[in-house]
Amino acid sequence: MSRDAEDRALEAEREVGRINAFFPILPRLGNRWAASRPWEGMTIALNLHLTSLTAALVRELQLGGGTFVVSGASPATTHAGTVEMLRNEGIEVYTGRGRDDRFAAVLDHKPDLIVDVGFELVNALLDRRPKQAADTRGAIEITRSGITRLRQRADALPFPVLNINDGRLKNAVENRHGVGEALWQAVAQLTGMHLAGRRVAVLGYGPVGKGLAMYARAAGMAVEVVEPDPVRRLFAHYDGFVTPALDEALARAGVVVTATGRGGALTLEDVSKARNGVVLVNAGHGGDEIDIKGIKDAAERVDHIGEQVVRYRLEDGPRVTVLGGGHPLNIVTNAGSPEPVLLHFAVLGLALERLAKGSFEPGETIVDDAIEAEAAAFALAALNPTATV
Ligand SMILES: NC(=O)c1ccc[n+]([C@@H]2O[C@H](COP(=O)([O-])OP(=O)(O)OC[C@H]3O[C@@H](n4cnc5c(N)ncnc54)[C@H](O)[C@@H]3O)[C@@H](O)[C@H]2O)c1
Repeated sequence: MSRDAEDRALEAEREVGRINAFFPILPRLGNRWAASRPWEGMTIALNLHLTSLTAALVRELQLGGGTFVVSGASPATTHAGTVEMLRNEGIEVYTGRGRDDRFAAVLDHKPDLIVDVGFELVNALLDRRPKQAADTRGAIEITRSGITRLRQRADALPFPVLNINDGRLKNAVENRHGVGEALWQAVAQLTGMHLAGRRVAVLGYGPVGKGLAMYARAAGMAVEVVEPDPVRRLFAHYDGFVTPALDEALARAGVVVTATGRGGALTLEDVSKARNGVVLVNAGHGGDEIDIKGIKDAAERVDHIGEQVVRYRLEDGPRVTVLGGGHPLNIVTNAGSPEPVLLHFAVLGLALERLAKGSFEPGETIVDDAIEAEAAAFALAALNPTATV
């Protein structure tokens, strides 16, 4: 291995060590898997984003026996250090080349179990190797977009697929606390603004909006919630937030954050009624909740005033600042603690354990309470080192 590759692997090792130092949920699971060897004799294919968090997961999984083969879900999310580190541990890792080649290389190992992000590896198996699919024991899908694809193939599934995206934990921990904390960290860091005393309008009061409102209040911001669904608006009211109509909120807010899951939640017309100097941030879906194109087209002046910070002067309208180009800001800046993802990975490992036992019917099964309760107990033990599981 070259000196560079060695350095990158070492860097990844250190990062995994740091991650585990403050929330050792995966090492605790690794101890259990080392004792019980749940996937002894099996081959398991993992198609994942190859970050240090994934390295932390795979290292513990392989203590449970079996042979692990890994493909990088996308070159854009493949970190060289993670790849080197996994290879040092004797794991076959396929990166680069075309996606089809990576999937073919992984499927050539004839995996018994598959863990997928985006359902692309499983789709490749179903499309190109139906006989092999019939011998596959099961799969796990991690993401929302993957679940949508899985449901389009529902009739063609000869094996069980565990959906770990739609359990109770992810909504409560990742969507609410993960985004809530990370987004405000990113805003403060990019702008240098002190948040206390600023007035924010949160658009949408689902789990993401609720977390944003809660963490904004904890930072000392004055929070208003705009939500079209009267039931959720009432929840916001009893949680102690003012719930004005959008126009009213925009007239006052210094910061507006969208968490609606809907394209066009904040139109150019809305923005033109906003307070001068307003800061616009998206925490929801893709890049289209705020009409960035409309804002760009209507701008008579554009200033790039910092990394991911662009100020537009609208013709006959306010000055508005857009953070992160209107893409979910916590993702753009990779902000926040890794704990929600590690918890999701703990659910993944426990789901894999159950899948290896073969206790599910073919088709989609949403992760059950027993698996999530066990993951939650491991999380609590990792947060409280004096407890035992
Ligand atoms: N940034 C991240 O890391 C991250 C993480 C998880 C989820 N998400 C995304 O965040 C979005 C919200 O997630 P959620 O779980 O809270 O969804 P959700 O669907 O439960 O809640 C969205 C809320 O927005 C409301 N809404 C719809 N249109 C609106 C509008 N024009 N103005 C104001 N409110 C409106 C809806 O009534 C609903 O209550 C989703 O797109 C989700 O994919 C982002």
